[in-house]
Amino acid sequence: MVAKLIGPFIHIVTMRNLPLKGALSDDQLEIISHGGVLVSDGKILDVGKYADLETKFPTSEKEVITEPMVLLPGFVDAHTHICFAGDRANDYAMRISGKLYQEIALSGGGINSTVAHTRNASEQELTELLLRRCDTHLKNGITTCEVKSGYGLSVEGEIKMLRAIQKANQLHPVSFISTCLAAHTKPAEFSTKSEYINFAVNEILPKVKLQNLSNRVDIFVDNIAFNEPEACIYLDAAKKLGFEITVHADQFSSLGSRLAIEYHACSADHLDASSESDINLLAKSDVVGVLLPGASMGLGMPYAKGRLMLDKGMCIAIASDWNPGSAPMGDLLIQAAVFGAHEKFTTAETFAALTYRAAKALRLTDRGSIDKGNLAHLIAFPCKTYQEILYYQGSLKPTKVWC
Ligand code: NIG
Ligand code: FE
Repeated sequence: MVAKLIGPFIHIVTMRNLPLKGALSDDQLEIISHGGVLVSDGKILDVGKYADLETKFPTSEKEVITEPMVLLPGFVDAHTHICFAGDRANDYAMRISGKLYQEIALSGGGINSTVAHTRNASEQELTELLLRRCDTHLKNGITTCEVKSGYGLSVEGEIKMLRAIQKANQLHPVSFISTCLAAHTKPAEFSTKSEYINFAVNEILPKVKLQNLSNRVDIFVDNIAFNEPEACIYLDAAKKLGFEITVHADQFSSLGSRLAIEYHACSADHLDASSESDINLLAKSDVVGVLLPGASMGLGMPYAKGRLMLDKGMCIAIASDWNPGSAPMGDLLIQAAVFGAHEKFTTAETFAALTYRAAKALRLTDRGSIDKGNLAHLIAFPCKTYQEILYYQGSLKPTKVWC
């Protein structure tokens, strides 16, 4: 395969050689001005000054960038629920009239209403809905996207969702990482949560493993979802089956992040209600904190204490949580830019949270920075400085995406 030189770019923000954890200042960023990237077979062969690469690789093909553009690694959205049918506009209307997410769930709305719609949809319909959402994500610069099940909550339902994700992965340029969220909530046909957890452990997880539909599992740990003893049963079984773990933690109450640490989870996600002692423990661990400002926006609730988390030394990613309930917007860059302004994240911290730190949450080591050997997942914004990207608060979109 012949190599292709892409450029010149006004700035390339490589996001390489940066610390995994803690605060970052913008002067730590490597900015290559008048830069180019040499790609072959979907991988990055080299990155540097465009003129140097032209001399070093005179026979390469060229994709000449004629407008002023800034290049970044493709964004990684490490937490979504975009495989679903139906919508919850009625839930949203009730929430903005003052009802709580928790109350709506108890009165027949919430996650279980999406479960009903998703159970009624065919695998083909779910795949098509997922592909459409991913077209939007790709246009917005997301080149890797985690997608959870969790609206099936039966053997057939969970397997149908995970198959739809697998199929979409084959059909779409975005790279999908699937996660089995069999423990999202108790479906209506079970009378107790512990009965359902036993069912998920004995019937759902082994089949997901056997059919190789995912190597990750997730659980919603909260007062309105599963408690710690129930979570331990589920997570012990998941560990035994060889799954990697991620946890919906500390969303409404300080519950779940300590379990994530104990089970060596890849990430603990939400963390809106984490206490300072939770944050201290997370900072000492290898668990990535995945913050989901889109859910805070959708629920009208306070953001996670991102600034404190970085200052304490945590590894922080930002993801969209795109779902029909708490986070219907799905625009990761708008959410990250607005949240970053609120929490006083530097540009470097927000970019890190969308790239290599988000890749770490998914344990992916071949993306998240523009570096030799990594996947050529690249996004270019039509602007003259990298600062403009957050300045326009997510309304400036990439006009070129390589994936
Ligand atoms: O991450 N917190 C639990 N799960 C999702 C919401 C899913 C839904 O409301 O459908 C979340 O916010
Ligand atoms: Fe979620």
